Amino acid sequence: MRPSEGSKLRVVFGADHGGFYLKKEMTARLKGNYEILDIGAVSFEPDDDYPDFVVPVAETVVSGRAQRGIIICGSGVGACIVANKIPGIRAAICHDMYSAHQGVEHDDMNVLCLGARVIGTELATELVIAFLEARFSGEERHRRRFEKTLAIEKQALSGGGGKKEGV
Ligand code: RB5
Repeated sequence: MRPSEGSKLRVVFGADHGGFYLKKEMTARLKGNYEILDIGAVSFEPDDDYPDFVVPVAETVVSGRAQRGIIICGSGVGACIVANKIPGIRAAICHDMYSAHQGVEHDDMNVLCLGARVIGTELATELVIAFLEARFSGEERHRRRFEKTLAIEKQALSGGGGKKEGV
């Protein structure tokens, strides 16, 4: 889903204790250019659990209340694993600039996962902007792969596992 002409892209952020301070800094930096929804954590709680923040971010994106999601944990790994359990989410950890935009252009990635213990604030900011400014190319070969990916998800949801004939 794309924002209409002139309106700001709506972006939902979530983070556990591992990503709490980076989220705070990111949302402060980006709020002038994007409409930011922050689903928490609202305070630093060293014992909180990343799945509790990933699911609301994922649901916000799937429902269309935000066009993109950003989830920050210590490594980005836990966030990414959980996010990809939610149908309709295409999440990846991107700690390099190429993947941050190419993941959208080729794969229609809708959630970016970051590891606050792995990358610094400046790189994180550039990665987030590259992700948010990228658009799915819509080229035939990327659409074809996207459709195959959706078919695998549909098959898994119907109880047929990940294997689909002809894929
Ligand atoms: C929390 O300590 C840490 O395990 C979590 O933020 C994340 O890195 C998991 O992948």
